[in-house]
Amino acid sequence: MTGQPTVLLGVTGGIAAYKAAELLRGFQKAGMEVRVMMTEAATRFVTPLTFETLSGHQVHVGEMLRADSTIAHIEEGNVADIMVIAPATANTLAKMAAGFADNLLTATYLAYAGTVVVAPSMNTNMWRHPATQSNVAVLRERGVYVVEPGAGELACGVYGSGRMADPESIVAEVKYRLQVERKTDLRGLHVVITSGGTREPIDAVRYIGNRSSGKMGAALARGAFDRGAVVHLVKANVDLPRAPGVTEIETPTAAEMYQEVMRLLPETDILIMAAAVADYSVVAPAGGKIGKSHADLSVSLVPTTDILCEVATRKEGKQYVVGFAAEYGMEGLARARDKLERKNLDMIVFNDISRSDIGFNSDYNEVVILTPQGESRVERAPKETIAEIILDHIARELRSRREEFLPVT
Ligand code: CTP
Repeated sequence: MTGQPTVLLGVTGGIAAYKAAELLRGFQKAGMEVRVMMTEAATRFVTPLTFETLSGHQVHVGEMLRADSTIAHIEEGNVADIMVIAPATANTLAKMAAGFADNLLTATYLAYAGTVVVAPSMNTNMWRHPATQSNVAVLRERGVYVVEPGAGELACGVYGSGRMADPESIVAEVKYRLQVERKTDLRGLHVVITSGGTREPIDAVRYIGNRSSGKMGAALARGAFDRGAVVHLVKANVDLPRAPGVTEIETPTAAEMYQEVMRLLPETDILIMAAAVADYSVVAPAGGKIGKSHADLSVSLVPTTDILCEVATRKEGKQYVVGFAAEYGMEGLARARDKLERKNLDMIVFNDISRSDIGFNSDYNEVVILTPQGESRVERAPKETIAEIILDHIARELRSRREEFLPVT
């Protein structure tokens, strides 16, 4: 990509089509060139002339059958650095997931090999419907980026989720994707990321667990894959869409996670332990369900193996190892530094779990990246952004290590 990036904006037939004009202006203000393609249904909400006037280019509409449109789906795709479908209706999302090419826009999507971003927009019940949710999951799995709809009062008068994300959020996502796609600084490296929270069984139905959602690990996995790494995501009890291109392995307990990390270790270049691993497990979990007839009941716990400590003894200096320190309050920063040294890590990412606006289960985080050389504070941001900053740090460190070993000419 040279100079001004070109966005191919696909507009489909939802009430939010009128917001696509503002979105187009947002792309232009961010220094992007915009080409527009509309479905027939979209033209009933906004006329092509609006987009033609704003973009300064002819707008392609509707069916594939028109003589002037027959190769438009290839041509437009070729010039675009990114394709954005906003608003994306339930109907268009379903066609994209199923591979339909029954109009110019869906045909262009199928023929397009670059990055695709969609901004769904529809009535709450349509958005929540399992059919729509599974179509969105399929698209995500194939690498389509979804700018989640927000909650608010919808055109149908109902309050709920389904409203197209704000144009600024869509522009921000597109700017971010254009920049991230260019990074290939982890190409060919084997990255293992743990995520989620382990659950230690007490009996057949109960467990000792924690509130980790696995969102930070998922963002890291996605980011590492985008940068060209071969990624294994070792996850414990995570309920999130699969990350495209990433090999996922389920390890519900600390012992299983330990086994898996050790199995992968010899081939690993970078290990990121973002999981909240239980420090104790139950000595002898009951086979069935413990009833309430006991006068008193105690459960004996034993410490689990500390995966990072075990890695430190086996890693032979090859792997770059990153830990996470979830600490209560900023005074935990000193404890995080202590863990960095005690567990012989290359990096530890500190976050403050006393705050409800970041960390556990939130889409946001605010962290301090600690290395033996120093520390770097990262302001509150979406976990995807935090993941990119962490990966930038790792890639930079690895580059400088490699340079140390380059022959002096
Ligand atoms: N960790 C691990 N194996 C464990 C427990 C934790 O590898 N059995 C990893 C976590 O994935 C995290 C780091 O160690 O990357 C720090 O975890 P944390 O729970 O904050 O630290 P602990 O060593 O368990 O110390 P403490 O609970 O005493 O604060």
